[in-house]
Amino acid sequence: MVENPVAIVLNNPYTIDDLTGGTLPGHLAIIMDGNGRWAKQQGKLRIFGHENGVKAVRQTVENCAKIGIDYLTLYAFSTENWKRPKLEVETLMKLLVASLKKELKTLNDNNIKLNAIGNIDALPARAGKELKEVIEKTSGNTAMTLTLALSYGAREEIKNAVQQISTKVKNNIISPENIDEAVINNHLYTHNLPDVDLLIRTSGERRISNFLLWQIAYAELYFIDVFWPDFNEHHLVEAIINYQNRERRFGKTSEQLI
Ligand code: IPE
Ligand code: IPE
Ligand code: MG
Repeated sequence: MVENPVAIVLNNPYTIDDLTGGTLPGHLAIIMDGNGRWAKQQGKLRIFGHENGVKAVRQTVENCAKIGIDYLTLYAFSTENWKRPKLEVETLMKLLVASLKKELKTLNDNNIKLNAIGNIDALPARAGKELKEVIEKTSGNTAMTLTLALSYGAREEIKNAVQQISTKVKNNIISPENIDEAVINNHLYTHNLPDVDLLIRTSGERRISNFLLWQIAYAELYFIDVFWPDFNEHHLVEAIINYQNRERRFGKTSEQLI
């Protein structure tokens, strides 16, 4: 059951000002899920949910920059999402183009650099072009890197990496015994990003849905029963405070961490 958003706000009055001290997740990744159910709950079309999802994206991006998160990665469209009805896919792509146009200023005002992972060539030409333009126009920004996962699938990413490395082996550029974790990492879409520290999924689903399988090896997972369009500052801060109260042992014992 998804909780009543009003009740959540009353029970959770956290604001960004509550984040005083404590280690922030350097890399926060979010599976933004539940737009369709949010709309359906109100008797509206799924696309109404996606439109409102965009508002939650803007708010979350601005809040993360304000908090001081270095890397924010948002799962916006999966390789599997191409299987959705044609009209929904088309509308999502149009929304992407419109948002990129509209948010360029917000990104620059907040010193945010845009990045993208996934099979970007699979996007409609218009979306690919707009994306590349915004990436270019924000490339000098330094406060936060915002990565959009678009037409992204972790299995495809790993498959591509294996193909690229195999070709290098075949061409004697690298020898098999020199393939280590760093080499694999360098051939992923995320080669210039650190590992994920905190992964949030909204909507109550407790699964990964082919997102960043390699990069979340030691991420803290946080599932919240709120549909994405309702996700706000309170939920974000609560997730970070929850993260700050966890002990990340990376295989060691508690005693070794002291
Ligand atoms: C997330 O919301 C947005 C995308 C996957 C594009 P959904 O569209 O998956 O909404 P639900 O999960 O069906 O409610
Ligand atoms: C995951 O959500 C993909 C995105 C949020 C972009 P889905 O709604 O596609 O995932 P499943 O199908 O419920 O696992
Ligand atoms: Mg979904």
